[in-house]
Amino acid sequence: SAAEKDGHDWFMRKEIFEQPRAVADSLLGRRNADGLLQLDEMRLSDQDLREVDKIIIIAAGTSFYAGMVAKYAIEHWCRIPVEVELASEFRYRDPILTASTLVVAISQSGETADTLQAIRHARVQRSKVLAICNTNGSTIPRESDGVIYTHAGPEIGVASTKGFLTQLVACYLLALYLAQVKGTRFGDEIAQVMDQLDEMPGHIESVLAKSEEVYALARDHVENRSVLFLGRHAGYPVALEGALKLKEIAYLHAEGFAAGELKHGPIALVEEGLPILCVVPPRGRDQLHDKMISGIQEVRARGARTLCLAEEGDTAIEPYADVLITLPQVPVLLQPLVAVVPLQLFACELATQLGHDVDQPRNLAKSVTVE
Ligand code: AGP
Repeated sequence: SAAEKDGHDWFMRKEIFEQPRAVADSLLGRRNADGLLQLDEMRLSDQDLREVDKIIIIAAGTSFYAGMVAKYAIEHWCRIPVEVELASEFRYRDPILTASTLVVAISQSGETADTLQAIRHARVQRSKVLAICNTNGSTIPRESDGVIYTHAGPEIGVASTKGFLTQLVACYLLALYLAQVKGTRFGDEIAQVMDQLDEMPGHIESVLAKSEEVYALARDHVENRSVLFLGRHAGYPVALEGALKLKEIAYLHAEGFAAGELKHGPIALVEEGLPILCVVPPRGRDQLHDKMISGIQEVRARGARTLCLAEEGDTAIEPYADVLITLPQVPVLLQPLVAVVPLQLFACELATQLGHDVDQPRNLAKSVTVE
């Protein structure tokens, strides 16, 4: 009924709008009186964590994309090498696992068979397993050595939205906690990032306030059969997630690429009028932003219609954006928390316009309990 959807047409749309609260809840109570990070159900000792010399993140689908973002954050803040692996591929490549490997399993449902089998394999090899999960008492956290619970609340829509954002939060918390334990970052730097995270619910709210703009954009694209997504750095997994949303509920051909890879093949796909959603990194000291802009220039010169997500005040993108949706100014590592929201709204509205059942897309199940 409309009541259980808070007046929205779909659970997915309701869950998109719940994201500021879900993110805030997932951040709640993570700092103790001294301002230090604490993770209650971590159950891995600081000593265990100090011994970790490699992290392997395993997950499927959207949770895998959260893992890709986690790699950027953990390697940057903690200087521990991280591999991100699809759960369904993990066991079959004979992965190198030791007692000093930390395996992080990310799963909204906690019941995904591929992910469960992967952690069982890791534990037989004596690796420590940490779950990031949204479902209390589900199988994956029960079979893990420790858990960071996300607090998204039940996610009903088959297409994950608030599950993803809260997984990102848990990944940032894990990265910062490891940095604290390992001493790779000073306490005030960790506190500063925590303060920035505390501002994210407000930023997500401001993106949601522009939903009508995104809906109009979606309505302009109901005739399209194919949409590409481009990103770089932490924006690359966002591009992949934007494409997955569109496949899942709008049944459109959608593909995400790392912008730097364009010239190695995908640019051959570009033709007159092809819509390309571009996740533009914030302006910073590195060359990420400028490199992204030159990639956007190139696809536009070949006729693509560039739909750009870029931070407020980014005037450099204006000449190359056929459509510009502005995002709040946030650090590059945290940008996925705001950048993915318009992509969720875009997919939800496009699927609605096409007359699809957004909450129960064909051929998909909410939790995939077979391998
Ligand atoms: C997301 O929109 C998907 N429906 C799907 O990719 C999902 O993220 C994947 O099956 C993993 O599920 P889990 O997080 O519950 O393990």
